[in-house]
Amino acid sequence: MKKIKVLFLASEADPFIKIGGLGDVAGSLPNALLDLGDEIDVRLIIPLHKQIIPETFGITHYSTFVTDLGGKKQSVDVFKTNKKNLEVFFLSGEPISDKEKVYDSNIELDGEKYIFFDLAALEFIKRDGWQPSIVMANDWHTAIALHAIKQRQADPFWRNVKTVITIHNLCYMGAGTEAILERFGISKVITDKIPWWGKHVPLPMGILAADKIVTVSPTYSKEIQTAEYGCGLEEYFQYRAEDVVGIVNGIDQDIWDPEKDQAIPQTFSISEIDNKKVNKQYLQELFHLAPKPSVPLLAMVTRMDQQKGVDTLLEAIELISSEKYQMIILGTGNPEIEEKCKLLEEKYPEQVRAIIKYDGKLSRQIYASADMILMPSRYEPCGIAQMISMRYGSVPIVRATGGLKDTVTEERTGFLFEHINAGELAASIIKALRTYKKKDLWKRMQTNCMDENFSWQNSAEKYKNLFESLV
Ligand code: GLC
Repeated sequence: MKKIKVLFLASEADPFIKIGGLGDVAGSLPNALLDLGDEIDVRLIIPLHKQIIPETFGITHYSTFVTDLGGKKQSVDVFKTNKKNLEVFFLSGEPISDKEKVYDSNIELDGEKYIFFDLAALEFIKRDGWQPSIVMANDWHTAIALHAIKQRQADPFWRNVKTVITIHNLCYMGAGTEAILERFGISKVITDKIPWWGKHVPLPMGILAADKIVTVSPTYSKEIQTAEYGCGLEEYFQYRAEDVVGIVNGIDQDIWDPEKDQAIPQTFSISEIDNKKVNKQYLQELFHLAPKPSVPLLAMVTRMDQQKGVDTLLEAIELISSEKYQMIILGTGNPEIEEKCKLLEEKYPEQVRAIIKYDGKLSRQIYASADMILMPSRYEPCGIAQMISMRYGSVPIVRATGGLKDTVTEERTGFLFEHINAGELAASIIKALRTYKKKDLWKRMQTNCMDENFSWQNSAEKYKNLFESLV
């Protein structure tokens, strides 16, 4: 059989640069696809963001070419390294190298960076003579590449190339980049299939161009076909229902392994879950919480963002004030939400700690110590923290949405609540606290959690089947 060549485009990829969950996916899935065997070949291309230090990853210069973008000559520098058997390319050039942030609050800066990246990536791969069977884009940042491929149908290099867009977060579409698109010679699409406002916006343009539309969980693939989650494109997704596919993400089970994790005070395995206690005590002491093993420790590790429902948690805490528990909230983001978390800590000094920072090591210690992890998300295309927490024997309490619904089972591996309101969340927390007291039952739930298989292999196989159906 002919080898399937997949060109994987992303704005970020772990370990080179990671801001959010997309970084985890782009950091794992390409290698997981290669690990499936010889029938599939993958190349990953990301921008050479300022934050990426080439020496750290053995990244070296590969080539330079000059491209014509909307009538303006622009030089593109290509760099390369290997991540195990994966070839990873990095693109640079002024629209990338002059930007301070990976994602800027000024959408025009992001627009210039990513639309340049998308067009440069296509030109690079053609110059390099590596003709892909599939180009897979992720979110709005790389969506324009798919649109541009459909514009190049007269070119035999691109004519038979199939395209897949994976949606990690539908709400960010890249709106506000119209002027940049225009400058790079990309006009609005002519169609009656999507609303007027989407015709010159990267994500809808990429979705229109894509042969298949993937969401990062099956439930989210259904949700985006409803007005509540569809961000205005629900009717289009209904129309394309046969092309909309949900494939749940995995986690890198080597990176997230309580038996080997160097960041946690005490490693443990499924047969010695009780060793988690050592980690819990360490955290209780670190944050000056009463070092009592019997008091359940709840935790939330999150971006402080509307999406994540931190505000709902803060309200729910007021409803459980008569319960015995301790809680640690770790994360940064929206300053208003950060401030509210701090105020809550002041109000409940015996119980609540709000640590306002991004701290990878501490987050591991929290997963390894907590009894329960909270994810009251408004929407959650996939979610990764629930899978990590299960692997570390911490039972998730989650809103029944998106990937959370697909990965957590009520009273077997966690607790779910339907609607985003403080009452339902509080009820779910109380149910979890009651269950916690039944030692055997709780241990069984922890064991069920740690027994789950969230390896990337499962997801990679589904992507492979999808690719095979296209070529
Ligand atoms: C986005 C989504 C999250 C998902 C991640 C990776 O960050 O919000 O739910 O897990 O992308 O696909």
